[in-house]
Order: sequence, then C-alpha cells, then structure tokens
Amino acid sequence: MRQKIVAGNWKMNKTLEEASMLTAEVMRLLAAEAIHTAEVVLCTPFLYLTNIKAQVAGSGIQLAAQNCSEHEWGAYTGEISAAMVMSIGVPYVIVGHSERRQYFGETHKILAAKVDQALAHGLTPIFCCGEPLEIREAGTHEQLVKSQVVESLFHLSPEAIQKTVIAYEPVWAIGTGKTATSQQAQDMHAVIRAHLAAKYGQPAAEEISILYGGSVKADNAKELFACPDVDGGLVGGASLKSREFVEIVKAC
Ligand code: 13P
Repeated sequence: MRQKIVAGNWKMNKTLEEASMLTAEVMRLLAAEAIHTAEVVLCTPFLYLTNIKAQVAGSGIQLAAQNCSEHEWGAYTGEISAAMVMSIGVPYVIVGHSERRQYFGETHKILAAKVDQALAHGLTPIFCCGEPLEIREAGTHEQLVKSQVVESLFHLSPEAIQKTVIAYEPVWAIGTGKTATSQQAQDMHAVIRAHLAAKYGQPAAEEISILYGGSVKADNAKELFACPDVDGGLVGGASLKSREFVEIVKAC
C-alpha cells in the first residue's frame, strides 16, 4: 500500500507569526477531528522550518523544504544544501517545482543533481513535473512529462526511486483556479506509473506515491483523490487557510 500524502506548499508566504498561527490552527483542527487519513506535510519557507518543527513535535505532522541546492556544500551564497535540511530533522524536500523551473532556470540536469543530493542525505524528494498550457493544447503533454521524469529520475537505482515521491502539477492549473479534471489527472498519473513500471517493474511502480497539484481545493479534493493513481495532493493557495487545508486532508 503506497502512502497517501497531503502536502501544503506555502511558497513565499506568511511572516513567522502568521506561519505559527496557521500551524497551530491546522494542528488544532486535525487533533479535534482525529484525522489520520494521510501523511500531512507542511512545506514552509526555509527560515521557519526549525520553529515550526518544534511547534509540530509529537503531532505526526511532517515538514518539507521547498528546494535544496544541487551542490553538496561550499561557496554558494544564499543556497541551502540537502545536508543542512536533514541536519535540522526535516524529512522531505520539494524538487523541480514549475516555479523553480520557470523563474530560476532549473533544468532536467540540475534537478537530477538535486534529487541525488536529497537522496544521498536521506531526504525524500517530492519531485514535481507538469506541462504548461501550450503543451497541453498541442497535445504533447504526455511526452513532455515523460521527458521530465526520465531525464531527472531514471538514473536512480530501483531502491532510490522507491524513496521518491512524484507530484504531477500541470502548470496551467497552478494558482489559476482551473483544476485538471479528475480524468485528466488520473490519465497522466497512470501514464507516469506506466513509465515507472516499464523501467523499474510493476511492483516498484505500485509503491511510488504520485500526488496531484494545481488548484486543489476542499470542494474538488474528494473527486481527485478518489482516482486510483492519485495518492494525495500538493496544495498551494488552499494550504494557507487552515480550515480549507484540513478539509483537503480529510478528503484523502
Ligand atoms: P495552487 O494549489 O495554488 O494551484 O498551487 C499548486 C502548487 O503549485 C503546489 O505546489
């Protein structure tokens, strides 16, 4: 049985005080309703990971960094390494979010190196893939997503790939309020799983969690999460509101 995960990607939002308040409210609501449906992961800004980690201690909530360097260590001013993330006891890291690909020029090769860094230091990468609108409209979305997965993940050993989580996030659905239909999500997740199976075998592919991201909300989460190959969500905007986020966790 692969793990169900609902991860809230806060992106570059919230002051420390607001972040603490949001965390407290999410913890309170999850505990009040005794929700243990999925692994809950908060992807906070780097700066708050230590504080929020202390705050969630004992709650079962896990944390993720939103990025890490492709380098091991050294003179890379402003960067954060996978080893640093691991050293504060944070188990997950998002790699290859479309915003990083688009605004920070992250290529397949850079992302492969980030995945390697994450795994080498015992972090679970949440590897993002997904096509922009023009590619969806051109009908070549399956090829593009395949190339993202192949180029940045298929050098991994069978053991390493099973320690990786994949998030399919169609760029046209991110922050737009336009969600992929559950059929579109299921179709792409099945395609990704088929590629994993072709490379690593069906049993390995069955163990890898594939999350959907892109305008996941309380009112569409149930239908998306009901798809057989959708193992949870990577939630942006809706994760900034405690009640909305907890409703999404409940739907998983
Ligand atoms: P939204 O949920 O705001 O569309 O963002 C999705 C996302 O980018 C999560 O990583």
